[in-house]
Amino acid sequence: MNKANIDIIILDQIDSTNNEAQRALSYKSNFPFWIIANEQTSGRGRKNRYWVSQKGNFMGTFVLEHKIEKQYIPHLSFVTSLALRETIEGFNKGDKEIFLKWPNDIIIKDSKCAGILIESLKSNSDKEYLAIGIGVNLVNHPSKSSFKATSLKKEFNINIGRDEFLNKLNNNLLAKINIWKMGENFSQILNDWKRFAYKINENISMLLPTGEKVDGKFSDLNDEGGLILSYNGENSVFYAAEIIEELKLV
Ligand code: BTN
Repeated sequence: MNKANIDIIILDQIDSTNNEAQRALSYKSNFPFWIIANEQTSGRGRKNRYWVSQKGNFMGTFVLEHKIEKQYIPHLSFVTSLALRETIEGFNKGDKEIFLKWPNDIIIKDSKCAGILIESLKSNSDKEYLAIGIGVNLVNHPSKSSFKATSLKKEFNINIGRDEFLNKLNNNLLAKINIWKMGENFSQILNDWKRFAYKINENISMLLPTGEKVDGKFSDLNDEGGLILSYNGENSVFYAAEIIEELKLV
């Protein structure tokens, strides 16, 4: 993917840049491109949660036409979160560690500063499209959220301009997509990702899609990026769950 001809659409206010990505398929023909919003009125997070989208923060969706094999699409959570972590690291002048919370949140000091929402878009043709929605708390963060939140301004004590952030993120994302090679090189992405994994080798609590909670040790990722949790002397692999704050002794 070549960064020279990537369009950037900047909108003042929109419901959600991921929603606009879907609508944009009717008026855009060259891919990939970015949709950026100064403000979102219905920002969405994973699990249909509301994503607080105040002015000054980064809210953007990278839209791509693709021929990625279906089973490899979840790889993009790891590819994108690595690129996002690297971008944030570029602004980190202090010694705070930046972690990746499985599968794709960015954590500083046990608080979330950025999240990713990847969605397949509906298409009337035989072509396939993906929306990679990215939200970064550059200057402010919600005071109430399902997982404790923070902003880069709070952690790094600097004001990061949205457009400068976008420029660096775009470069890093394209570079990581190129390294990944449509799945062929996913092991390298995973190995990089694991270096920054939040709470790896520690006890965690996980919320399963059924609503059930399980506690155990986050012992590794399998080759597909599934989280291996050891509990009751057994290993289980999870693909659709999330690490939550409620930690209990196991
Ligand atoms: C999450 O952590 O739950 C994912 C948050 C993703 C938020 C971004 S902001 C830009 C894009 N538009 C949305 O409505 N959501 C994503």
